Amino acid sequence: MKRDFLSVRDFTREEIIESFDIAIDMKKDRMKYSEALKGQTLALIFEKPSLRTRTSFDVGIQQLGGYSLYLSPNEISLGKRESVHDVAKNLERMVQGIMIRTFAHQIVEDMAKYANIPIINGLTDLLHPCQAMADFLTIYEKKGKLDNSLKVVYVGDGNNVAHSLMYAGARLGVNVTISTPRGFEPNLIVWQNAVADGAKTGAKIEVIHDPMEAVKNADAIYTDVWASMGQESETDKRKQIFKPYQVNANLMNAAKADTLFMHCLPAHRGDEVTDEVIDSPNSVVFDEAENRLHAQKAVMYKLMK
Ligand code: CP
Ligand code: NVA
Repeated sequence: MKRDFLSVRDFTREEIIESFDIAIDMKKDRMKYSEALKGQTLALIFEKPSLRTRTSFDVGIQQLGGYSLYLSPNEISLGKRESVHDVAKNLERMVQGIMIRTFAHQIVEDMAKYANIPIINGLTDLLHPCQAMADFLTIYEKKGKLDNSLKVVYVGDGNNVAHSLMYAGARLGVNVTISTPRGFEPNLIVWQNAVADGAKTGAKIEVIHDPMEAVKNADAIYTDVWASMGQESETDKRKQIFKPYQVNANLMNAAKADTLFMHCLPAHRGDEVTDEVIDSPNSVVFDEAENRLHAQKAVMYKLMK
């Protein structure tokens, strides 16, 4: 049976930890895995821009002995030039896996249903599971554990990145607090799923609107852009609403001396985070970016080997 990675929930806790251990091993010795996916091709479908996702999948599959095929938004025009079903049925005849970044989450669900090869979600409007894998791998490396003695606080918009952090924390047993303005809370179904998953692993998943209150005792403070890709027309309006949610020195000081600062990037410096914080010694944003490569290589290895 082929497997997909559309959500962090597609992996059990044990599988996530196992993939982190593989990722750490790959990071230590790149050449050890240089033929692991020899001759396999991963198609990269992008309907939105990308730096990290594109680079890490492209380089990652090559480091495993395979090839990548980049398909830009103009080339496929999913669902317009050709149906998702027909794209899936064509690609499965020629490549061994598909990474897709798109808008509606249903598109990756449909692609996974129709294609008889592994599908990896490289970001939808709902979820960004590869990001959460890299983020929790980073926390694992920095804090040496993943359990409910840790508290990750996400401050900002209740978006795709927030959703995947909630799912990953819940699966791993790490407490996750989300702090958003009213009206920008996480998706209700994601929230309920995460609370239910967390109840099984001992992770507390909660939403606290006051950011100062939320970040108390945080081991990591995480933020993301206030307007995600596709929401550009709301940028000015959101800047006003989210201003009290900026991660600045004042907010970092309300946590601990060794609280990590995290961001999926790209960052809008001066909006959701100040230069002072993102450039501080507590900031691990480029470790997270690097870990996209290692975490995703481990995911590809688990699905395509
Ligand atoms: N964090 C992230 O997914 O970056 P890109 O949008 O550049 O891929
Ligand atoms: N929430 C952001 C994440 C970018 C990596 C977006 O969807 O644009």
